[in-house]
Amino acid sequence: MQYPSLNALLIQIATWFISLAFLAFFSIEIELIELVFCQGVFAAIASYFLRMAVWWFFIHLFFAPAIFIALTFNLPPLGYLMAFVLFILIYGSIHRTQVPLYPSSKAVADVITTLFPKNKAFSLIDLGSGGGKLLTSLSTLNLNGNFYGVEAAILPFLASRVRGLFSQSNCSFSWGNFWQYNLSSYDIVYAYLSPAPMNKLWKKALQEMRPGSILISNSFVVPDVPPSESIAINDFNNSVLYIWKI
Ligand SMILES: C[S@@+](CC[C@H](N)C(=O)[O-])C[C@H]1O[C@@H](n2cnc3c(N)ncnc32)[C@H](O)[C@@H]1O
Repeated sequence: MQYPSLNALLIQIATWFISLAFLAFFSIEIELIELVFCQGVFAAIASYFLRMAVWWFFIHLFFAPAIFIALTFNLPPLGYLMAFVLFILIYGSIHRTQVPLYPSSKAVADVITTLFPKNKAFSLIDLGSGGGKLLTSLSTLNLNGNFYGVEAAILPFLASRVRGLFSQSNCSFSWGNFWQYNLSSYDIVYAYLSPAPMNKLWKKALQEMRPGSILISNSFVVPDVPPSESIAINDFNNSVLYIWKI
């Protein structure tokens, strides 16, 4: 599904028509709040049958009810605008990337450290480095590494820059789109993204990464490409690191 947010919009519009037609056809009279929940149920069911990712089910189910409830608070319109702007600053163009902000755990940093060479220099790039916590932890634990982070969302990027100021100098952060970065100069590429970009990431890795380098994906597999190794992490998310030797 290439444009899930467009599909979501179409589902929302279509299920409003379906809900109203359903009620008119069966001459059912209900309160506005009931109508709103009825539309949410239709929209959630539609997203299930159209095989949208599982989180869309819950977004559709609660989207109209959430708007209805928010309107009852009579908040000033500026409040919604500010919330929207804050959301964009934190999550960037998540509707396009389909990758939310979610930090790797400390346990992940500890396990990744065991994979690094101990007596020679190496470089690692974190694709979508969020607030920079993972890289600053890694750079403190591994002084023989050079760590680079690329982050598209502005507030996490600024947070990572501030973190970088207080951590080792072998850690640097850039603001941008990691798809525009060539991966050939890194020994290790780390990604904690979502299922959506994994096929594209694998193609990029095959085209650009050097033989002998490794790709680590936290939690998300590349469909039909078995990893060289996988490591289960004992953390809050039960993360699994998937490792491909290129
Ligand atoms: C799940 S978080 C992981 C954060 C960090 N790597 C960690 O492991 O703690 C994914 C991050 O990737 C960022 N991101 C998604 N697509 C991106 C892109 N094309 N370019 C740069 N950053 C991107 C998101 O904004 C988000 O902050």
